[in-house]
Amino acid sequence: MALERTFSIIKPDATKRNLTGAIVKKFEDAGLRVVASKRIQMTLAQAQEFYGVHSERPFFGELCDFMISEPVVVQVLEGEGAIAKNREVMGATNPADAAAGTIRAEFAESVGENSVHGSDAPETAAIEIAYFFSGLELVG
Ligand code: CMP
Repeated sequence: MALERTFSIIKPDATKRNLTGAIVKKFEDAGLRVVASKRIQMTLAQAQEFYGVHSERPFFGELCDFMISEPVVVQVLEGEGAIAKNREVMGATNPADAAAGTIRAEFAESVGENSVHGSDAPETAAIEIAYFFSGLELVG
């Protein structure tokens, strides 16, 4: 399996409950390395652009409002098969469907307030990483 990088967000419901460290530990325990990380307050324009693919969904407004409600931690995670591994560690989008031991099973509050975001494919990972980080900020 190839060494990959993926993009991750620790969402407002998690930063608000002081769960950043607990969530990062889940990634590190799974063999993922944090090669870039910053805590930011996302703007509405950034949230709308980042989630642009969902702009026609009924929950789009709620999703963007939620993403700017508290700071988030944006990160780049590196590891063998990092994209799939991150999705495995996060668990299903809806915490009700998430496997035991996953981040969403342990910490998420609802399908909307689900603690973490992770890229779903290599193409989206590259776009999402470049949206928040310059090459100089990646220090594997
Ligand atoms: P994420 O991986 O960040 O990508 C899109 C997000 O939309 C998803 O996680 C969920 O948090 C959110 N989402 C998906 N379905 C719903 C829904 N039915 N209601 C509110 N938010 C949703």
